Parts: sequence; C-alpha cells; structure tokens
Amino acid sequence: MPLIFCLGLLFSLNLMAHVVSDKPVTVITSLDSAKAVGGVILSKDDSSNTAVTYLNQLQLSQLSSLNHLQGKCAGFETLSDDEVMQPGLLLQNLKVTDTKFKSLGLIRPTVLTWNEEYQKLADKADPVQLKETISWISSYPTRYNKAPSPNQHVDELKTKLESWLRDARWPYQIEIINHKSTKQNTLRLTITGKTKPTEVIVLGGHLDSINTGYSNTDKAPGADDNASGSANLIEAVKILKNANQPNRTLEFYWYAGEESGLLGSAEIAKEAKAKNKNVIAVMQLDMTLFPGSGEQVIGLVTDFTSPWLRELLTAMNNTYTKARFVPDECGYACSDHASWHRQGYHAVTPFEAITQTMNGNIHSAKDVIDSKSSFQHSNTFTQLAIVFALVLGNSDIKPPSIN
Ligand code: BES
Ligand code: ZN
Repeated sequence: MPLIFCLGLLFSLNLMAHVVSDKPVTVITSLDSAKAVGGVILSKDDSSNTAVTYLNQLQLSQLSSLNHLQGKCAGFETLSDDEVMQPGLLLQNLKVTDTKFKSLGLIRPTVLTWNEEYQKLADKADPVQLKETISWISSYPTRYNKAPSPNQHVDELKTKLESWLRDARWPYQIEIINHKSTKQNTLRLTITGKTKPTEVIVLGGHLDSINTGYSNTDKAPGADDNASGSANLIEAVKILKNANQPNRTLEFYWYAGEESGLLGSAEIAKEAKAKNKNVIAVMQLDMTLFPGSGEQVIGLVTDFTSPWLRELLTAMNNTYTKARFVPDECGYACSDHASWHRQGYHAVTPFEAITQTMNGNIHSAKDVIDSKSSFQHSNTFTQLAIVFALVLGNSDIKPPSIN
C-alpha cells in the first residue's frame, strides 16, 4: 500500500513521544522484518512469515521505516499486555484458518442455490439512498476517537436506527458498547435468530475517522474511510427489515477507534472468544466508494481472513452480485477483520479496489464525496452484505471442522 495512505506520520509522532520513555514494546509483524531489526523473537510462524517480537524504541522506529520502504503502512501491530503473555497461542490463532485449511485440503469450490427472494432483496439496494447516508455520516467535522466529542455521531446513528426499525417484524436490540481502550463507543444492532439464536453472523465496519495531521480536531470527513462501509451496513439493515426473521442471530457493528489500532473490534472479538460465542462468520466493510481498479472490481483481502469464507463470499458474488473479485493482500492487520481472525473466527473483507489503486485521499480532509466517488460501485457492497446476512443467516453452512 503506498506510503501516502499510511498512518506513518502518526506513528512517527508517537515514536518521538515514546523515545523519551524508551519503553520496550511487543509487536506482531513479519518474521523477516523482526529479524532485520534484531528484535527478540518471542514466537514465530515460518509458514506465514509472522513473528511476535520484543523491540526497544530504536528497533521499533527502524521497523516502521523498513516497513514503509517495503510499501507497507504501519506493518506491525502493538500487542496488549495480556496478548503478550501468550504469544505462541496468538500465532496459533493466526494460522488456524489459513495454514491448516490449506494443508488439510478442506477448501472446495462452493456452489450456492440461487434464491429468488434473496435476489429481490439485494436488488432493492439503492445508490441514491446510499449517497444520502454517506453524505450524512461524512458531514461530521471528525469522527476521530480522540476528538473532544467522540460519540456524537454514534448516538445520532443509534437514534436514527431506532426510528428506522420501530415497526420491524423481528426481535432486535440496539446497544451502545463502552470500551476500556477508548472513550469512543461501538454501536451494535442484534437481530435475534428464530431457530438457532446462539449461532451468530457478524457484519461490521468502523464508524470512526482520522486525519493523520497534528490535531485531534483536524477535519476528518472519512467519506470513503469509512462512512461508505458504515452506510452499506445501514442500508442493508433497512432492506432486511422487509425480510423474515433470520434463523441465526445477526449482529451488526459500527466499531469505535479502528483508526487508532482496531480498538473497538479488538475488545469485542476478545470478549466473544472469552464467552465462547458461536460466531460462524464475520464480514468487514471498510472503504467501498472509490472504484480504483474499475467499476465492479472488488479486492478480496487474503491476509488475516478465512479461506473458507472467501470462497463462500465469492460464491455469493457469482450467484447474486456478479462483480469481479480480485484476491489481494493488505500486508498487515489493516482493518477490524483482523481482530476476529486473531481470536480464531472466520472473517472476510471485500474492498473497493486492489490496494495498489485504492483511494489516495483517506486520512485527510480530502476524503470527501467527489467526482471519483461511485455510489453504484459502493452499492454492490450493500448487496453483498444483504446476501451474506440472508445466506448465512438462514442456512446450516458452517466452516469445515478442524482439530
Ligand atoms: N481503511 C483503512 C485501510 C484498509 C486498507 C482497510 C485496505 C481495509 C483494506 C483502515 O481504516 C486503516 O487506516 N487502517 C490502518 C491500520 C490500523 C491497524 C490502524 C492503516 O492502514 O494504517
Ligand atoms: Zn478504514
């Protein structure tokens, strides 16, 4: 991913602040990079070139520069204290979906039976309505988690959802979720499943935005990153209001603090794991508005995601939405799907383009609706969310079991 999009500047500033304290940190990064900067390798997985490594501040700053030279953004993720306690376990979770599934040959082409009702619902997705919702979300001066009022847009979305869903035909709950790591809240809508309420399908996107300039109050409209994915989820919910109660439970998340290190989703996925929640599948929508690789060309993130679910989403696309999917690596834990993946859940992220040609205006005041925005392109992601909720919410489809 080109340098310009990175949070590099922010990290550098943070690094300058840290250099003063010179506190060592534990991060997860590529094994090659960890070795190159001479970090102490606490745990590693050769097959995925991933390591948990212990670094002093100089090494951390070298790692940041090295990763930027290699075209990655941050290219590493700092681990919390309790994650550090079990680095081996962490890597086990990381590789569970990819390496094991591949080596066991468990991934087979998936064929889905076309369902007319699902198609009709997906076809209700409306680019004009979507534009209105993205315009509203991106009209806040900032949705940064460290802004003086980090929850105004969260509370206002809650009020809007309550009004849209007032006469819904299925049981639901709208909740504000507080976090330990940030003052910003996550918003969750739960639609309770009819026959298998303990089996959960998650759809999420981050509602926060960032401007990687100096100030907490810098303008961060975040139209593409990520009013777009947040709006896709809102529009999907409004259309699912016309569908029957799903058999499985659907959870929709508008996460807090993604731009400051996947903060909201990390806590939520961790708690889900701790409670042994039976989350069958997770879809993340983050940036859907800029058709950088062409209209209806969708990048399918291949790292920190599940091969089984990528295959299933591809089948959903082949059956209903008919976009062109291009597998593409992010190179690091670039969005909230990684939080779920790290807890061993199956996650998938369809993305606006291949990352090389993604929107260059994100993380700045320029991330606004402009002539390059395509609501038709973004609308396909609303349709994918609808189909994901209907197919997984009303079937017995499960990941193949591994031991
Ligand atoms: N939307 C961006 C990046 C992204 C790229 C997401 C490709 C999905 C696919 C995301 O909000 C972001 O900026 N992530 C951070 C990393 C995070 C751990 C702070 C980044 O890329 O620097
Ligand atoms: Zn984003």
